Amino acid sequence: MAKIKYWGHACFTLEKNGKVVLIDPFISGNPSAPHLDTLPIPDLILVSHGHQDHLGDAILISKKNHIPILAVFELANYCESKGAKVIAAHMGSKINFDFGWVMMTQAQHSSSTPEGNYAGVPVGFLINFYGKIFYHAGDTALFNDMKILGENYFIDLAMLPIGGYFTMGIDEAVQAVNLLNPKIVIPMHYGTFDVIKQDPEKFLEKAQKEAHCKCIILQTGSEYETSNLISSAKI
Ligand code: NI
Ligand code: MN
Repeated sequence: MAKIKYWGHACFTLEKNGKVVLIDPFISGNPSAPHLDTLPIPDLILVSHGHQDHLGDAILISKKNHIPILAVFELANYCESKGAKVIAAHMGSKINFDFGWVMMTQAQHSSSTPEGNYAGVPVGFLINFYGKIFYHAGDTALFNDMKILGENYFIDLAMLPIGGYFTMGIDEAVQAVNLLNPKIVIPMHYGTFDVIKQDPEKFLEKAQKEAHCKCIILQTGSEYETSNLISSAKI
């Protein structure tokens, strides 16, 4: 069974059969995150965009373990220029891995390197991890094309930002749940900084009442087993 573990902010790991996918590893500099050494060694790192609270330690982890970062072309090239191993791709189709596939998806946000240079467009990720479909929205505003993802895929678990200010807030994230129709939603990207303080319980109540979706609030360092999810990709 697949296990999803929350490392604070927008950072998650998916684990199964000794295979680890790491998403947006903002560990150093995040006061609420555990020590970097406690992270499992990943087989693949997904980075949604170049902002430091997402790119985080990705380059360091890639260099240390010789594992690739999957990101949009411009951001991947930046990571490569810093010595990381990369897979430079883009939105539009599935990229195959031994665990399944990853598709980069639209995100309404911006993206730049830590030096402030252009880093391509920001993305979210749709991930088929051993037959379960996970959606990590990245940093994004609400957009209507989330409906297409919900129509085309049976999303088992969606990770959605609720912090507001830089991304969707609670109300918009609940609307996103209605468009995506996932079986489970996990809120992310809140509480790390003062401007994105939110009460996840409010999101939980609203998501369950207005979108009829089970919401799991993961504390940093806690995990959820997806054994009770049944899914299959529609396309
Ligand atoms: Ni951002
Ligand atoms: Mn962010």
